[in-house]
Amino acid sequence: MNSLGLTTLCCVLVVVGTLECFSYAQLDPSFYDSTCSNMHSIVRDVLSNVSQSDPRMLASLIRLHFHDCFVQGCDASILLNDTDTIVSEQSAAPNDNSIRGLDVVNQIKTEVENACPGIVSCADILALAAEISSELANGPVWEVLLGRRDSLTANQTLANQNLPGPNFTLDQLISTFDNQNLNITDLVALSGAHTIGRAQCRFFDNRLYNFSNSGNPDPTLNTTLLESLQAICPNGGPGTNLTNLDLTTPDTFDSNYYSNLQLQNGLLRTDQELFSTTDADTIPIVNSYISNQTLFFENFKASMIKMGNIGVLTGSQGEIRTQCNLVNGNSATLATFTSKESSQDGMVGSI
Ligand code: HEM
Repeated sequence: MNSLGLTTLCCVLVVVGTLECFSYAQLDPSFYDSTCSNMHSIVRDVLSNVSQSDPRMLASLIRLHFHDCFVQGCDASILLNDTDTIVSEQSAAPNDNSIRGLDVVNQIKTEVENACPGIVSCADILALAAEISSELANGPVWEVLLGRRDSLTANQTLANQNLPGPNFTLDQLISTFDNQNLNITDLVALSGAHTIGRAQCRFFDNRLYNFSNSGNPDPTLNTTLLESLQAICPNGGPGTNLTNLDLTTPDTFDSNYYSNLQLQNGLLRTDQELFSTTDADTIPIVNSYISNQTLFFENFKASMIKMGNIGVLTGSQGEIRTQCNLVNGNSATLATFTSKESSQDGMVGSI
């Protein structure tokens, strides 16, 4: 069926009350084939250069796409800086001094604009950068659906509401994902992105000293890992020291994230919850990824595509921003406002 046919079918479905496939129909992997055919290679070249000096950047960009999609859809709203009319999502608690990669996205956008001005959205750059990051970290490869447009607004309140916290219980995680129409398999597969990247002590140090106000460490944290984490994250310390999310293969995208959970070596509470919650439906999914990395990769791809479809703007909705940090017509203020992102990159505690 051609895309017009699909759209028509979806409009019929919308009329009878099923909204789900509406946005899927309009995204297409070949969206820029005739208008910006080298955008893939531009994104890839920037990322392969940047990741040589900063391998963590691959993780940071996968996370940026996730934090974009969970807040009013994958519309690059996370990239908008504070202005008179925009309250930036970058200052929301889950993002503040934590998200990285805004400068890299700007670098990509500048190069893409030079090649094909006014064509490629920032939301699509985020989606493509996430996929190429997975690929460069030896993870799954998939065809990215394209054709998203950029929002005219941001929503900091929604960023605080919709993004999961590192101390959520499994029930809270399930409902946070369910709000985005993502199921338990999506939750487990997408959490596997923690196979690469780093986390700051402040996101898990309650597990080391005073878990759930017990005065003791989290009983589901491996005691050897506990000791090394206590050395990296001293009690009452600044909370900004970093450690690897995946204890065993920190920069390689593989299924070791899940084997870690079996040994109680999950770093965040939310990681360990997937395996250590009594009788949870997530446990057999974790086990299946440990025994079959291909299954993890297949499910990760499918869930990333599903996540990449959340609330997308298409057609004449939104706009193609000229600069990712500002809505169009506001560029005079660019110099005044700077992006907020986590500045500490280097310090990683060794375990
Ligand atoms: C399930 C709920 C999740 C929670 C509670 C969570 C929370 C966190 C936290 C607290 C960090 C550390 C940030 C920092 O220290 O600055 C982090 C890092 C990361 N998250 Fe998640 N996350 C979740 C799901 C996801 C998903 C669905 C993805 C992508 C598909 C993802 C990708 C990443 C990556 C790649 C990093 C490392 C980023 C870097 O090194 O810059 N996370 N996450």
